[in-house]
Amino acid sequence: MLASRSASLLASTSKVASTSSLAARAFSVSAARQHAAPAPVPPKQKLKEFKIYRWNPDQPSEKPQLQSYKVNLAECGPMVLDALIKIKNDLDPTLTFRRSCREGICGSCAMNIDGVNTLACLSRIDRDENKPKKIYPLPHMYIVKDLVPDLTQFYKQYKSIEPFLKNDNVPVNSEHLQSPEDRKKLDGMYECILCACCSTSCPSYWWNQDEYLGPAALMAAYRWMADSRDSYGAERKERMQNSLSLYRCHTIFNCSRTCPKGLNPAKAIAQIKLEMATGA
Ligand code: SF4
Ligand code: SF4
Ligand code: FES
Repeated sequence: MLASRSASLLASTSKVASTSSLAARAFSVSAARQHAAPAPVPPKQKLKEFKIYRWNPDQPSEKPQLQSYKVNLAECGPMVLDALIKIKNDLDPTLTFRRSCREGICGSCAMNIDGVNTLACLSRIDRDENKPKKIYPLPHMYIVKDLVPDLTQFYKQYKSIEPFLKNDNVPVNSEHLQSPEDRKKLDGMYECILCACCSTSCPSYWWNQDEYLGPAALMAAYRWMADSRDSYGAERKERMQNSLSLYRCHTIFNCSRTCPKGLNPAKAIAQIKLEMATGA
């Protein structure tokens, strides 16, 4: 009897509980309905035109041309590289360009954007829909395909300056130390990412690419001449004692103006000339 009473008490308590939880649920559902976010409105289309240099080595008789693409900026990241990737993914998988890090470190996305050599991943898309963006490969280079220049000669020149530490008396059982002051002399040069924006903006390099080393390779050379741990500075300079390797630079500063890393290759070149003239 006791057992059945407590059972019926329990039953009535649980009925009350379940009625109140229903009420609570009904309240929370209606409250949720009241506070429900409105259905998302699709973003307004913001179409920007990109005119991109195209050339396909498999169709050598076809002339290079500018191809137009419309990209909805509302669905695209903020940088030119984002737009190129979007075009490749959504509109035209045949568009060819180099990229890797997408943060200004690898140097592979260098191209000419609206007349300026720069990195596509560091170049912001301006939001003006009436102004098409024109994109070409780096100027005065042989083209592999579309926006990909042939950098064989550029790397050959870099290799020719021996871009590594040369010293016949390296300490055997200790570190090769350098004072903070000497280390500081390399700032503004060691950061070069070899994107080739500077060399391909240099008129002297355009016309004498076979012999003139160009600003990127020359700054790399000076980076090692200025390194207190390197003992081959004189030899490095001696190799530039001719009319073309170094002296084709006419100090026009195109190279420093265009460097997307804010470096100053023209200053490094001037420094080599000064040291060669003074025997420093
Ligand atoms: S100096 Fe600047 S522009 Fe030239 S290769 Fe280096 S990072 Fe690129
Ligand atoms: S300063 Fe020298 S290396 Fe730089 S763009 Fe002018 S000519 Fe070329
Ligand atoms: S993708 Fe590496 S520098 Fe632009």
